[in-house]
Amino acid sequence: MSDPLDDADCVDPHLHATLPAPTRRGFLKSAGAATGALATALPGAPVAAAPADAAPPPPAPRPASPPRRITLTVNGARHELLVEPRVTLLDALREHLALYGTKKGCDRGQCGACTVLVDGRRINSCLTLAVMQEDRAITTIEGLGQPGALHAMQAAFIEHDAFQCGYCTPGQICSAVALLQEARDGQASAVSADLRQPAALSDDEIRERMSGNLCRCGAYPNIVTAVRVVAAIRPVA
Ligand code: FES
Ligand code: FES
Repeated sequence: MSDPLDDADCVDPHLHATLPAPTRRGFLKSAGAATGALATALPGAPVAAAPADAAPPPPAPRPASPPRRITLTVNGARHELLVEPRVTLLDALREHLALYGTKKGCDRGQCGACTVLVDGRRINSCLTLAVMQEDRAITTIEGLGQPGALHAMQAAFIEHDAFQCGYCTPGQICSAVALLQEARDGQASAVSADLRQPAALSDDEIRERMSGNLCRCGAYPNIVTAVRVVAAIRPVA
């Protein structure tokens, strides 16, 4: 009985006929390719040169800057803080001064939850550094009014049910307060019909001027009502 592994018995004679005969040149080429692949896979093996169009390596991380002592004036009170220069005003307010009314939504200037007033102008506190705001008057929602002595805008938001979860509300109110002053100063918006005249605060104007403050609960109709009611106390135009 023949060995089942014997070539003569198990190789298809038709297949055998189609295979090229092995040559010395072919053997040396395939052996060289296999040796090269093995060498690059071994630890410590020389690294092949990168192709000319390969992306450059990322820059090495820079060492952290040492903390700086700064003074912030928030809601009329001066505070000394020791902060790294990279700390945002938002994080300084929340993490260093425990003013949690200012909310962190996106942390990248898209939602308006972190809006505060700096020298009376609204800014996204997540987009500015605390070290840039020395010698400025910073007002947060805590500084606009107090329980029992609310700002007119805070009272209007409550009266007109202009919030649901309330997460966006401090930013909405700070933004609305600044909006009224901007309109009184004659600043136009993208929907103002006449750029040279102070615009009356129509609902369209209010919606446009509040468009940087997002509300996931969709309380927009009541927010517009609250702003309109406060604007009517001291008409813009
Ligand atoms: S947290 Fe600043 S804009 Fe969203
Ligand atoms: S009230 Fe909930 S996000 Fe505005």
